[in-house]
Amino acid sequence: MLFLTKVSEKVVRFIIDVPNQQLRRCCHVDASLIRNFAIIAHVDHGKSTLADRLLEETGTIKRGVHGERLLDNLEVEKQRGITVKSQTATMRHKMGKREYTLNLIDTPGHIDFNFEVSRSLSAIQAVLLLVDANEGIQAQTIGNFFLAFERNLVIIPTLNKIDLKTAIPDLVTKQMKEVFGMRDDEFIRVSAKAGTGIQELLDAIVERVPPPQVKRLEPLKALVFDSQFVGGKGYRCSVFIHAGVLSKNQDVQLYNSEISCQVREVGLFSPDPKECEQLEAGQVGYALLNHKKLEDVKHLVGDTLFHKDTKRDSFEAYSKVATPQRMVFAGVFTDQLSELDSLSSAIEKLCLNDSSVLVAKDSNHALGQGWRLGFLGVLHMEIFMQRLEQEFGASPVVTLPSVPYRVKLKYDKQIKEHRGQQVIEIRSPLKLPYHLHVDKYYEPFVQATIISPMEHLDTILNLVSMRRSSGENVSSITDTRYMITCKMPLAEVITDFNDALKRATSGLASFDYEDCGFEEADLVRIDFLLNKHMIDEFSMICQREMMHSKCRHMIDRLAEHIPKQQFEIKIQAVISDTSTVVAKGKVNALRKDVFRKLHGSIGVERRSALLKAQADGKKRLRMVGNIQIPKKVFVQVMKAATSK
Ligand code: GTP
Repeated sequence: MLFLTKVSEKVVRFIIDVPNQQLRRCCHVDASLIRNFAIIAHVDHGKSTLADRLLEETGTIKRGVHGERLLDNLEVEKQRGITVKSQTATMRHKMGKREYTLNLIDTPGHIDFNFEVSRSLSAIQAVLLLVDANEGIQAQTIGNFFLAFERNLVIIPTLNKIDLKTAIPDLVTKQMKEVFGMRDDEFIRVSAKAGTGIQELLDAIVERVPPPQVKRLEPLKALVFDSQFVGGKGYRCSVFIHAGVLSKNQDVQLYNSEISCQVREVGLFSPDPKECEQLEAGQVGYALLNHKKLEDVKHLVGDTLFHKDTKRDSFEAYSKVATPQRMVFAGVFTDQLSELDSLSSAIEKLCLNDSSVLVAKDSNHALGQGWRLGFLGVLHMEIFMQRLEQEFGASPVVTLPSVPYRVKLKYDKQIKEHRGQQVIEIRSPLKLPYHLHVDKYYEPFVQATIISPMEHLDTILNLVSMRRSSGENVSSITDTRYMITCKMPLAEVITDFNDALKRATSGLASFDYEDCGFEEADLVRIDFLLNKHMIDEFSMICQREMMHSKCRHMIDRLAEHIPKQQFEIKIQAVISDTSTVVAKGKVNALRKDVFRKLHGSIGVERRSALLKAQADGKKRLRMVGNIQIPKKVFVQVMKAATSK
């Protein structure tokens, strides 16, 4: 009797809270049979390959039909062989008499995409901490462990690549037990390549991952943890349903964005988006929102989706996602006025899919109208630019990446120009104030963590000291591996420190870093001139004591890449405040006989082909004074400039 009363109470609440249309469909998903988890690991430890095997083993995809790393579906991910976006996939796994729904999120490994990892973790209850049994704990294994640990997520330590002859799973298990305090019986050993241990891993996920704590009888509340603009349709948001039901044609609101819209479609990622009737509490899937105004929706990630009729003040939304620290800034412009609108819309759409990018208009610039974009690192910037080109057909002009500096202004009229601020942040070299107006300069520093086998210790200490490190501290994490921590200027880290470390240690050392504030520095702005015309893209701020070597490096790269023209090109690096020349170089003029060869003796067809190529090429040229520079030269010099 008591039981019946309780049941009828629940039913009454249910009928009040949930619209009738939902009532009919609300009893399908049992949240106790749902497991939500992510795979996190250091770069290249095999996350995407393991995701493939899990999808195959559960019959979500057919074995051997798809290429490798199915969840890396962006063109840039396929080309570069790295994951840059987290991807969700829903699988079904039978254990005993029950069928479980497993929602997997594959995350990127590179440090520049750590924001993707941290925001994915808000939608799940557990992680597979994947470690290459050949390499053992690496710097980001530690970083990722703490991301999960701080959120109280269940951690399943998983050793991968046990098929390799060089694998040392016993030793890696010992390392992980010592460093993370894990127990022997927690470890699962797999080979994502060979498919070994996958069933055991699936069973462990079901047994150890707690089902999501959800409230299916309460009004709709869903966390948006990713978003994408889908041409002509609206936004596809990845959602975790915390309470209630989300279904097609439902009228919903977004809490932070303060917009109301209709749900056009809901579905699951299997792993391609597949429409379903509704999503219920505990499920991870997507909602296609029928809202097409880009400018209304800037920060979908971390937003809360709820029913149109729910009152805002009676509702507890998810707290906003912490803003990631942007480490690198670059100007993005177009020299074709006709392309301004399309570039603007491409940046807005791409930012919806990558909310870690900071966008600010930057129009008072010699390059015309544009934006100052903030990224989490140089690779992040490169990937964003490549995606702009590949996914939106844009071809923007990009300035040399720069870290943000700070400047304390002298206490006089200058402060007025900066709205009363005495300390200002400089994100573009072109905005550095005149030196006589500056009291002090500051540059950003990071706390670096490097993990390496013992034999490379001296090489690493040497390398970090060349990059202006301080406060080095060495501690052993096992008998054979060391952890080195030190403070380094961010500007030294973004110029390919990670690659230099890999080269110096045959790929055996790994690196991670976190922001640790600003320190005083002696800085200058350097401009580069071609026959006295400034190349705005390449202005840079650097340490005064480093300026000679940096300028020489840039001048040599410019001389190497700028194509010869009919006249000599003089290249100069000058201190912008005083016009003092720091370094010089030149590009010789084309020899006369080369012209004759080019223009004199070519046939009619070849000549018209050349003219057509010239017309097409004009779009890809940038004029500095009367000097024609192909845009690819900017990319080449930019790449060379960000490596030492
Ligand atoms: P990022 O997302 O870019 O960090 O990489 P990832 O962690 O997703 O690694 P990915 O799956 O791309 O694998 C990296 C490399 O390791 C690829 O060449 C894989 O073929 C290889 N690999 C992955 N798992 C195994 C394994 O179990 N055994 C062996 N021998 N190789 C593996």
